[in-house]
Amino acid sequence: MRVILFTGKGGVGKTTTAAATAVRAARDGVKTLVMSTDAAHSLGDTLGVALGGADAGLPVEVEPGLSALQVSPPHLLGESWRAVQDYLLSVLGTLGIDTVVAEELTRLPGAEEVAALLEVRAQVESGPWDLIVVDCAPTAETMRLLALPEALAWHLDRLLPAQRGLIRTLRPAAAAAAGVPLPDPAVIEAVTGWQRQMRQVHRILTGDETSVRLVLTPERVVIAESRRTWTSLSLYGFVVDGVVVNRVFPDADADAPSRPAPDPWRSGWNAAQRAGLIEVRESFAGLPVVVAPYLAAEPIGIEALADLGLAHAGTEGAQDLLAPVTHRGMTVERTDDGFVLVLPLPLAHARDVGLQRRDDELLVAVGEHRRVLTLPAALQRCVVDGASVRDGLLRVRFVPDEEVWPRG
Ligand SMILES: Nc1ncnc2c1ncn2[C@@H]1O[C@H](COP(=O)(O)OP(=O)(O)OP(=O)(O)O)[C@@H](O)[C@H]1O
Ligand SMILES: [Mg+2]
Repeated sequence: MRVILFTGKGGVGKTTTAAATAVRAARDGVKTLVMSTDAAHSLGDTLGVALGGADAGLPVEVEPGLSALQVSPPHLLGESWRAVQDYLLSVLGTLGIDTVVAEELTRLPGAEEVAALLEVRAQVESGPWDLIVVDCAPTAETMRLLALPEALAWHLDRLLPAQRGLIRTLRPAAAAAAGVPLPDPAVIEAVTGWQRQMRQVHRILTGDETSVRLVLTPERVVIAESRRTWTSLSLYGFVVDGVVVNRVFPDADADAPSRPAPDPWRSGWNAAQRAGLIEVRESFAGLPVVVAPYLAAEPIGIEALADLGLAHAGTEGAQDLLAPVTHRGMTVERTDDGFVLVLPLPLAHARDVGLQRRDDELLVAVGEHRRVLTLPAALQRCVVDGASVRDGLLRVRFVPDEEVWPRG
């Protein structure tokens, strides 16, 4: 099964592009589910089918080979998630968790987003689909969502052993004296369950069946955000395998013959979009870039989406759509005097990247995004000797720690 997530800035056409991709795939014989993680219920409006009501939370067949799903409101999940969230927050500080981590915790996504992740997992595990197309919320929320499984599993790994130990060793009075709120067993159980599920979600999202496609419009502000999104997605270990430039005016595509525009308004936008397209192709060099026209009417309903899907298709057939993803995650290479850890960070500048070594972990920060990497065993016994960011790669040099590996 293949999973493709569509994300991008607000309003650029994520839902439309996701739906058009799904319709095209289904008509090419690929059994497809299109689902939305966005609480705004635009997917049904775009497809022209009712996804809410009594059927909310269940896939609805739109036409043969194509089903659509609006994740149901997380009634039950909401309660247990909130209990976990409250508990995590109450333990902060008392376990000596540092402020960076505390900040991360306070940015935990809400119940709707978690419900959506769990639904993706459920559909991957038990759905009859060849392809799941996920229409995501605008970039910021998507990033919180995608970074969550790993961050949460990390927090829970650290909280649970401590808490289990405390429950065994501390009597309530002693616990109160230590200032650590004791969770009741139900909370521990909930936390353990979340930890397992989030690990599974993370495995799916960073596995070779999942990729992300960026949807953008050829405007400078949108391109700037999309560039940062590519960097952040790479930081978290997600693969971007395509860019869709949506709502391009007919005369603005650089491949179209240049014709004099009938009025200054049109010629102004054509020129701006032409420049935007050049910037997109330069920024995302190496990724397939698909250009979709600004249609004369909103593409609503299956037939309009099918037409748009054909415009997207280019040379990508159904089998290409289902091909496994090539991951270029973190790698470690040997050097003459130690190791170098390489992490792809496309479009990143050295000035935006921060590094911090903490015991067995390396904290990598790019702008407002952070990821805690657990170092491979060999690197845990090394010290950081320097780092560089060049050609889209972060390289961190490690040399053996003389205290651990004395020179013989
Ligand atoms: N290529 C296109 N030509 C004409 N109209 C389009 C095109 N793509 C999208 N639209 C229209 O633009 C509007 C926004 O599209 P859409 O809802 O897909 O954006 P979105 O990125 O999902 O928005 P949100 O961030 O709110 O989720 C819709 O009215 C849609 O019909
Ligand atoms: Mg949308």
